[in-house]
Formats: sequence, C-alpha cells, structure tokens
Amino acid sequence: MTKTVLKTVIFISGKGSNMVALANACRDPEFPAEVVLVVSDNPEAEGLVKARDFGIPAICVNRKDFNRKADFEKAILERLGGIEFDCICFAGFMQMVSGWFLEKIAPKPVLNIHPSLLPHYKGLNVHDRVIQNKERESGCTVHYVTPEMDAGEIIVQKAVDVSPEDSPHTLAEKILKKEHVAYPEAVRKIAENSGKTIR
Ligand code: GRF
Repeated sequence: MTKTVLKTVIFISGKGSNMVALANACRDPEFPAEVVLVVSDNPEAEGLVKARDFGIPAICVNRKDFNRKADFEKAILERLGGIEFDCICFAGFMQMVSGWFLEKIAPKPVLNIHPSLLPHYKGLNVHDRVIQNKERESGCTVHYVTPEMDAGEIIVQKAVDVSPEDSPHTLAEKILKKEHVAYPEAVRKIAENSGKTIR
C-alpha cells in the first residue's frame, strides 16, 4: 500500500499546544504527516519538554545567543541540514524570518498559525484589539509564511463568535481550541497536495 507522509519540523517559542495538537494528529496511522523535529528559539519553552514526552527530537537555537538575525537563521539552517523534511510549521514561534531564510527552505512550504481572521488583525495583542473594537467574530488562520508579517496565502481559517462577555483571555482560549483543529487540517491539505508518496 502507498501512503503520503509529510515529514514536518515544528518551530515553537512557548507552550507548544499547537505542536501537541499536530503531534497528536500524527499518532493516527491514517494521518498523512509525522513530526520529525521540534525547534525552539527559547530554551525555557515548555513545548521542548512536551515534544520529548512524545519522543520527538527537540532542539533549541537560542535567539539570545546571536546579535544578528542572519546568524540565528544560519544556525537554524545548519541544524536542519542534517535532517530530511518536507515542511516547516511555525506554531507560536515568536520570530519573523527573512526572505533569505525562506529561499533556503524553498520549495518546501513554511506555514504559520495566527489567532485572527487574517487579513484582519495582523501582529501582536490581537484579542485586546478585537475586543476593544467590539468585533462579533474572530478566529484563527493557517497561512504560508512570507517575509511580510501574517500576509501569506491562507490555507485554513476557522471562526468563533465573540460575545460581549469575552475577555482577551476567554477569547484566546476559545480560539486556541479552533487552532488545534485548524493546524492538523492545514497540514493534511498540504500533504495531500504534495504528491509525495512512500511505500
Ligand atoms: C497561538 O495562539 C498562536 O496562534 C500564536 O501563539 C499562540 C501559541 O500557542 N501565534 P501554543 O504555543 O501553540 O500553545
């Protein structure tokens, strides 16, 4: 039988709940992806421990060890050099990457998840701004990463209702639950369109 398995590297900076959602999805033998490596820019990221609990190799390339972003990106590329992978997923990875980095990865796709209905509410402090503006709907978006922040083509979007009682905290929790469904859905789409088949 032939099967598609997209070898995925996940970049994190913190809790790593989206990474856990992806790793859980990959436990299903029918899911067309596997997580081959987790990379953190932050040695304190809780997600590093969670990844190792899944038996996934997890490394840190500490952003603070580098003055220049270019040197940080070179160090990541060196670590990726020895690894076979098809796709990178940013999951709560709090760094922007350069066009140079993306060109080095291309044609492999780089994905990101953002907690708003892009193209609305790019950037940080999304939930505060959504509530301040009394929006009735928000959500999350999985999109391709480009050098411009939160601007690449959209792969999957999921909406939630914003109620007048919501605080930034309750809204973040509501949206995070949707993120955990949206990211595996997006990775499945990428895998199914990759044309990559193994025996
Ligand atoms: C998520 O809301 C994600 O959309 C944003 O940062 C948060 C990361 O959460 N970019 P986690 O680290 O995956 O738990």
